[in-house]
Amino acid sequence: MKVLVTGGAGYVGSHLVELLKLSNFTIHILDDLSTGHLWACQDCPLIQVDLTNRAAVLSILAEGKYDAVFHFAAKSIVSESATNPSIYYNTNVIGSINLLDAMINAGTRNLIFSSTAAVYGTPITNENIDEQHPTNPINTYGRSKLMIEQIIKDYCDAYQLNSIVFRYFNAAGASPSGKIGELHSPETHLIPNILKSIRNESPLSVFGDDYNTHDGTCIRDYIHVVDLAFAHKLALQFLKKNPGFNAFNLGTETGSSVMQVINVCEKLLVVKAEIRIADRRPGDPERLVATNQKACSQLNWRPSNSSLETIINSAWRWEKLLKETKMRKSDHFQ
Ligand code: UFG
Repeated sequence: MKVLVTGGAGYVGSHLVELLKLSNFTIHILDDLSTGHLWACQDCPLIQVDLTNRAAVLSILAEGKYDAVFHFAAKSIVSESATNPSIYYNTNVIGSINLLDAMINAGTRNLIFSSTAAVYGTPITNENIDEQHPTNPINTYGRSKLMIEQIIKDYCDAYQLNSIVFRYFNAAGASPSGKIGELHSPETHLIPNILKSIRNESPLSVFGDDYNTHDGTCIRDYIHVVDLAFAHKLALQFLKKNPGFNAFNLGTETGSSVMQVINVCEKLLVVKAEIRIADRRPGDPERLVATNQKACSQLNWRPSNSSLETIINSAWRWEKLLKETKMRKSDHFQ
């Protein structure tokens, strides 16, 4: 099977590439390397193109004759989406329309799209949320992803596109291979920032301790990036028997507060993190935890690597390797 992975040099995309490489797939990566990394392409052919280059995208899809497209390429920093919505709507929405048009033009009918729990906005319930929960994003990033979901649905109805949209909760962790993992600049995510604090690189700001939760800090549903990758592979099998449009949550049904995550890191690494309590971060919902019944029952998926311990151990191994490799100035890294 021949597949195109847009954003395959990025965090989640590269973990899918690593998984597909173990099976009989021909993989091409399309990535502009604006936030992805050459080393994350793992020797797969890289087409370095920006999705807003419509003519190039049309010709890549026409020539590639792909059986399926995994679409990860996107801008994904919530705070940046508020200050620079233009890049978010251009890259995420217009870039996706170019890709969709190119797929239809080329006769490629299977699409797996990376969406986000940010499409739900602030949940209207304290319970875990399922795919029927109203979508009401509260930031530009979430709105851009919801727009694409809606466009994909319309393309499925009109052009016989088949698509699965995955709404990720909090992607975290790194591959057990030690070859790939999370590397963002700037880093805004909780677990890498806790690990930086443990390394004494910078103290951790805890954004708010006055939420209405058991310890006052926000609750999230952390899902191992390897489990996310597995879901994408299962999606291909699902699409063969279930054409049309489907949206799935990918989470664990377990909520962990910021303080709980810090405590597990400290316990596993036997080091205290330096923390300071800061103001609430705008746009942070108090509690965001998935119901994952749909993915478990229909895709036969299980988040089996997503205990906090497994996530943090893998993230720590990756951080250490990254640091050592950078210090050796290896050309493995850009
Ligand atoms: N947090 C801190 N300090 C930090 C970083 C984060 O206290 O240095 C807190 C945040 O305030 C939040 C929690 O840790 O309460 C998790 O924050 P992350 O930035 O790790 O993740 P988010 O929940 O904000 O967002 C992530 C993705 C989004 C996606 C969302 C969907 O980054 O793209 O999950 O659930 F939309």
